[in-house]
Amino acid sequence: TDTYPFYGQHQSGITTAAQDRLHFAAFDVAADLDRDGLVELLRDWTVAAARMTQGRPAGKYGPASGPADAPPDDTGEALDLPPGGLTLTIGFGPTLFTDTDGRDRFGIASRRPSALVDLPHFAGDALLDAYVGGDLCVQACSDDPQVAVHAIRNLSRIAFGRASIRWSQLGFGRTSSTTRSQTTPRNLFGFKDGTANIKAEDSSVVADQVWADSGDGAGWMHGGSYLVARKIRMVIETWDRQQLGEQERIIGRDKGEGAPLSGGTEFTEPNFLALAPSGGTKIDPDSHVRLAHPTTNNGAQLLRRGYNFVDGNDELGRLNAGLFFIAFQRDPRKQFIPIQQQLARSDAMNEYLKHVGSAIFAVPPGAREGSYVGAGLFD
Ligand code: HEM
Repeated sequence: TDTYPFYGQHQSGITTAAQDRLHFAAFDVAADLDRDGLVELLRDWTVAAARMTQGRPAGKYGPASGPADAPPDDTGEALDLPPGGLTLTIGFGPTLFTDTDGRDRFGIASRRPSALVDLPHFAGDALLDAYVGGDLCVQACSDDPQVAVHAIRNLSRIAFGRASIRWSQLGFGRTSSTTRSQTTPRNLFGFKDGTANIKAEDSSVVADQVWADSGDGAGWMHGGSYLVARKIRMVIETWDRQQLGEQERIIGRDKGEGAPLSGGTEFTEPNFLALAPSGGTKIDPDSHVRLAHPTTNNGAQLLRRGYNFVDGNDELGRLNAGLFFIAFQRDPRKQFIPIQQQLARSDAMNEYLKHVGSAIFAVPPGAREGSYVGAGLFD
């Protein structure tokens, strides 16, 4: 199975071919952590993350070979497993720069990138505190769920006393493809998801829409990106009682092939002007695909990297299901925010959705070997 480098120009886990499984965790740093303590935590995470992505234990002894009188420096459940393409992607939330009381705990408030905005309230948001925000995040993706969980567990163990998990999310099926060599997966509405996503091969689009540039304002973010996460509940029981034709009208694509309703096959560009014999356009103006399309959004695009989730069920036997939406972009003010504002206003899909979680993180560039993720912020 695949192994991806941890060190490099960019962090892995963004343009990397989307793996099958996710464990995402947002962390809050401890109230008494100081600047040196934060840097030390990032150094410790970098070393352990680099080791685990290469299929090695989190610490130098491993789960079963260390001194008998100390706790093992790796918890052990990934011992005999290959890394399954494990990537660990680390991000910094707005509250790391200025906490909710307005304090600059780490002397970095003046270096907060202007693109790292606090997300505005969107029409229809039903956010629950339990799934919002975070000082730090780690996105762990692997084709093996146990490997992803092992990585988050060990980074959380290493952070003990310095940072703790605020909220976390498991995802069991990718809802995007990020390279042309991958087949398009399906979301829990049963539709192909990821067809028109930014793909790693589109290098000029990636450079233009995914990677932040020093010219954008924050030099330390050069080669980094901005991650927006949204936990979106999908009311699948209502969706499942909807007619096929209506489901396709809402998305703007057909369910089998994923082709736009204006015709063609999966990768044919939609034609929003094509007229239906019965009147109106073949693609409904309020369909998700039209409202999210770059031609409706001043050319803005996203690199989507979300996952399906089911967190058990409610007392009526309804699945607590949805899509854990993750998108990477160069500037959320020009990409996620205006696109989501437009979707929130009139997307035909809204009737079946509830946004319950929300967070934004600046994802710094990749670390050089010997250095650590985010080092440029503390220069
Ligand atoms: C496209 C589903 C939420 C942005 C699509 C497609 C589907 C889909 C089936 C068409 C296939 C494709 O090109 O990938 C969903 C579901 C959502 C959701 C089920 C919620 C549970 C969002 C959100 C955003 C978004 C919150 C951004 C704010 C996009 C974009 C496209 C897209 C940019 C590509 C449009 C194009 O260029 O044709 N989505 N989506 N989606 N979606 Fe979503």
